Amino acid sequence: MKILIFNQKGGVGKTTTALNLGVGLAGVSNKTVTLVDLDPQTHLTAAMGLRAETLPWNVSHWLAGNRPFQTEVISERLQLIAGDCNPPLQRPLNTPVMPTTDYVVFDAPPMWTPEVAALMQLCDWVLTPMEPEFLSMQGISRLMQRMEMEQIPWSRLRLLLCRYDDRLIVHREVRARLTERFGQHLLAEVIRNNVRLAESPGYGQSIFDYAPNSAGAEDYSALVKAILTLEQNAKEQGQ
Ligand SMILES: Nc1ncnc2c1ncn2[C@@H]1O[C@H](COP(=O)(O)OP(=O)(O)OP(=O)(O)O)[C@@H](O)[C@H]1O
Ligand SMILES: [Mg+2]
Repeated sequence: MKILIFNQKGGVGKTTTALNLGVGLAGVSNKTVTLVDLDPQTHLTAAMGLRAETLPWNVSHWLAGNRPFQTEVISERLQLIAGDCNPPLQRPLNTPVMPTTDYVVFDAPPMWTPEVAALMQLCDWVLTPMEPEFLSMQGISRLMQRMEMEQIPWSRLRLLLCRYDDRLIVHREVRARLTERFGQHLLAEVIRNNVRLAESPGYGQSIFDYAPNSAGAEDYSALVKAILTLEQNAKEQGQ
């Protein structure tokens, strides 16, 4: 299963979601995961405790189809294709060979790029983290229009509310409006605002290692389960 984490808006929780979903899926028995850092900011690579500039092989080599295929081995069941902080202005778009792990999770930059569009065609799901603000909804409509232009089916899209605070009326209202407007595209699970999630990248750790008893770990565990359910349902429907 290939999941592209994308929102053209910055700072909404894409990297946090890629990291914790990837690590969470690798914690499911027997499952293997590749995380791919597509973003020249290389935040995912850094959040995993690695310095992109010191690594010999990265996502640009992968996109170019360079051999031999290399990854950073994070644990027995988790590997990373590291980010490139100095990518060439135009990366070649040879269809890259997909890693053979059970899951591949892509952390995209906060903008449409040729690679984002190409990988969205190849992915099973587009998971879009978003903040519970009214203006974020406009961004989702634009994302859907763009998906239509690129002929990417909307059935792949799932929205994930991040930094959610149930005490705020505006967050509850946005959630209700999103449900009304985007229906089944909105995941029932939300990621609450949790300071542990903001702290963990500074220690190069996922939330499951840094603060396993936190609300953040609880919420990302629930997201892992939701993704497994999506996969199961898609299999049953023969997708
Ligand atoms: N649920 C949360 N609670 C508290 N802080 C969070 C939460 N999710 C993300 N953050 C923090 O918010 C900031 C932005 O998150 P993140 O880097 O995941 O966003 P992004 O969408 O990947 O940003 P960019 O578009 O720059 O790549 C980070 O400092 C992160 O630690
Ligand atoms: Mg990011």
